[in-house]
Amino acid sequence: MECKVIILCTFYLVFASVQAIKVNLNKAWKQDLGWEINCSWVIPEGDSLQSVRLYQNNQQFLIYRPETDGASTHVVYRRIEDKMSTSCAVLDDARQKGTCVISLELYQPQRFNVTMACEVSGERPYFIIQKEEIVVEKLVPPTDAVFTNITVDQETGRVTLTCGAEGVPLPHLTWTIADQKVPSDFAGGDWNATSKLWHAWSVFSYTPTSSTVAVCTPTVISEGKTRTIKTGHAAKYNEARNIQGGVFNTIVTVLLLFLLR
Ligand SMILES: *[C@@H]1O[C@H](CO)[C@@H](O)[C@H](O)[C@H]1NC(C)=O
Ligand SMILES: *[C@@H]1O[C@H](CO)[C@@H](O)[C@H](O)[C@H]1NC(C)=O
Ligand SMILES: *[C@@H]1O[C@H](CO)[C@@H](O)[C@H](O)[C@H]1NC(C)=O
Ligand SMILES: *[C@@H]1O[C@H](CO)[C@@H](O)[C@H](O)[C@H]1NC(C)=O
Repeated sequence: MECKVIILCTFYLVFASVQAIKVNLNKAWKQDLGWEINCSWVIPEGDSLQSVRLYQNNQQFLIYRPETDGASTHVVYRRIEDKMSTSCAVLDDARQKGTCVISLELYQPQRFNVTMACEVSGERPYFIIQKEEIVVEKLVPPTDAVFTNITVDQETGRVTLTCGAEGVPLPHLTWTIADQKVPSDFAGGDWNATSKLWHAWSVFSYTPTSSTVAVCTPTVISEGKTRTIKTGHAAKYNEARNIQGGVFNTIVTVLLLFLLR
């Protein structure tokens, strides 16, 4: 009796998984472009693609029907905030596999979360439908922090460090000296129209002792129903190590000069 139930369940599961359309929706941040959203589908044996509908924030912006549009279609919308390019294609003669790739090339900083949806429908008479949704969050983890400028005052020994990092929203740059949090002298940020990310910079001056390490850590904080914090790789400045680096470089140079003689 138990066995019968298991067989029935297994049969049902296999049957159900064969019947349903598989839709896969994912997103990726593309360097110097913006977002790329990829919807791909697999339609069960015996059925084929009738249409794909794409939605942004619940508004349909594209319908692709291979029967009338052919094996592929390409549509571009230029908007104030971005250029949206969509390419849809079926990948086999049976019209069972295909993808739509949507790229959002940002002309302006992203202001809100965006919801994208992909609805795939099979052919008559069943028109089985599968719809998937994805939230493109206004969040790009910070790039590694880098010192864009290091100045040492020869008279006072005072060091001025400028630290920079990029992300969405504008990264916070925090400074620590010997693990102690310290405020920056001044800081700012602007949108980088090439990388499509917010560029944050921060300046900090101090008089180092041989062992102190100055650390600049980038974090991106997304505020919403939940709070997401992404921390990037810190930039570290250690005067002692930098001096050692200097001595090492001199030795290498002397050695090279010796070898080149
Ligand atoms: C879209 O996703 C499918 C399945 O995951 C993959 O085969 C395809 O290469 C992806 N295309 C792009 C442009 O990312
Ligand atoms: C580096 O910083 C120093 C001192 O803060 C400043 O005078 C100089 O103009 C900066 N150099 C660059 C390339 O930003
Ligand atoms: C802006 O982004 C580009 C490309 O990622 C980069 O080469 C450039 O240095 C960035 N500009 C600033 C001011 O950081
Ligand atoms: C953006 O989306 C994320 C992930 O779904 C969510 O946690 C966050 O609250 C949203 N932010 C806003 C401002 O709605």
